[in-house]
Amino acid sequence: MTSGRRARVGVVGTGWWATRVHLPSLASYERAELVAIADADPERARAVGERFGVEMVFTDHAEMLRERLDCVLIATPPVAHFAPARDSLLAGADVMIEKPMVVDSAQGRELVALAASTGRRLHVGYAHLHSPHTAQLTALLADGAIGQLRLVTSLYANPSGALYAPLDPDRAPDASDAMFGPRFETYGLRKLGGGQAHGQMTHSLSLLLAVTGLLPREISAYTWGPGIEVDMVDAAAITTHQGPIATLASAGTVPLGAPSFIQLTAFGTDGYAVLDSAAGSLDVIGADGARLDIAALDPSVSFPGHLPARHLVDCFLDDRVPVADGSLGLATTVLIESLLESARRSAPVGVPDLGRSTR
Ligand SMILES: NC(=O)c1ccc[n+]([C@@H]2O[C@H](COP(=O)([O-])OP(=O)(O)OC[C@H]3O[C@@H](n4cnc5c(N)ncnc54)[C@H](O)[C@@H]3O)[C@@H](O)[C@H]2O)c1
Repeated sequence: MTSGRRARVGVVGTGWWATRVHLPSLASYERAELVAIADADPERARAVGERFGVEMVFTDHAEMLRERLDCVLIATPPVAHFAPARDSLLAGADVMIEKPMVVDSAQGRELVALAASTGRRLHVGYAHLHSPHTAQLTALLADGAIGQLRLVTSLYANPSGALYAPLDPDRAPDASDAMFGPRFETYGLRKLGGGQAHGQMTHSLSLLLAVTGLLPREISAYTWGPGIEVDMVDAAAITTHQGPIATLASAGTVPLGAPSFIQLTAFGTDGYAVLDSAAGSLDVIGADGARLDIAALDPSVSFPGHLPARHLVDCFLDDRVPVADGSLGLATTVLIESLLESARRSAPVGVPDLGRSTR
């Protein structure tokens, strides 16, 4: 740590995830000063301000930005990420946007360009990328621990399907650890960017791109959402500019109350690696069949939901580079647009330039 200075932080969108994870994380972090919040719902904004002891409470993010903030965290529904992110960057703040960064790649390109031109940091809230196992696997693959990469499979499964139809109060997800429960409006409407691919597969895709550095070239995908307007299960095969092939899958069908899981398996010329965040395990088998000795992690460490908000603060105070930056958020959005296009056309689709270089 460099000094006793605290970063002045504002939060836009104070619903389920912000009151469950980000606000408690920031309020209990000695390097952050939670200065202001904004939520379009005045009653929510007032109640959240009271709970977290925040005096400056707004319904419009533009008013909040007059408060000279160092960092802004955005946890509105996905279609409402862009405007507060753009305005916060223009106001000179570092910004963290919850996943998916945006659901329109044109907006993503604008934000990445704006972060570059303003010299501000743009983060995306991919908590899995803050797991020590993710960093360890990334380093092992780069060091050739399993030889040259040939095939990668990445899977994320969770109970999001429960949010893809208007919520039956008796079957709503448990919100006892947040001030409000998650809402159908944020997850289940196509026109608002809902569905499994944009909202959830983005986790497995960002993990795949960040850990392997692969650049997708073409994608062939299928999606399915029986009886609902959005996709609930997705599967895709991807070719890459570097050669290895990847598969990507996501299901919103995990029963409520059961743990979500994210698994990435990489096969190389000299071994394979299996990352399983629900189990908290990372297994790496080398050429001679020997298993590396890697300690298992507690699930709270393998899915450190509270860390992205603190990382936003740390990067600002310590002049560090984000673990998950805007170019990764843009790359996932571009690929998910291609995935949905491929599924719509029942045909392979070329992936546009992802706007990021290989490692
Ligand atoms: N990283 C993760 O694992 C994770 C988990 C859950 C949710 N999320 C993401 O967090 C974000 C929020 O999800 P949620 O479930 O908390 O949603 P939510 O619907 O519970 O909360 C969103 C809040 O934003 C407010 N809002 C809407 N438009 C606004 C605007 N223009 N300005 C200010 N406030 C506005 C709403 O009133 C609401 O209170 C989404 O992007 C979601 O994908 C990420």
